[in-house]
Amino acid sequence: MASRSEPGAGGARQRLLEAARAARQHAHAAFSNFRVGAALETADGQIVTGCNVENATYGLTICAERVAVFKAISEGHRSFTRVAVVADTVEPTPPCGACRQILWEFGGDLEVILGNLSGEQARYQLKDLLPHPFDARLLS
Ligand code: THU
Repeated sequence: MASRSEPGAGGARQRLLEAARAARQHAHAAFSNFRVGAALETADGQIVTGCNVENATYGLTICAERVAVFKAISEGHRSFTRVAVVADTVEPTPPCGACRQILWEFGGDLEVILGNLSGEQARYQLKDLLPHPFDARLLS
């Protein structure tokens, strides 16, 4: 199984950033004009993408990361390795709190790659973005 330090990981990250960048083109960000793309890598190397989809009531807006996760789950994927998030910003755009929770619940300690239109800006493990998570372990 590919490990995160293998040389192939660099190529996989680039591919994922590229997919997130392409997904961002589909963003429906009519209210904020802040367009975001996300790409989730499945354990078997497939890529599922998402973009933010805003709504006139604002509160029903859904972020690119959650669209990617819910699309992937609805298509039968259950195991994930990395997620890339791309926005047109100088500073990296990290997942919001709600997305961190959803990414954790469905992906565990994912690698989170943040990029802009020029390339990768930052990389984290999700456990460092969401320390002390609430999850299903606590419901038993
Ligand atoms: N947004 C995302 O899609 N992902 C993030 O990581 C941050 C924020 C979206 C939600 C909303 O449509 C717009 O960006 C402004 O917050």
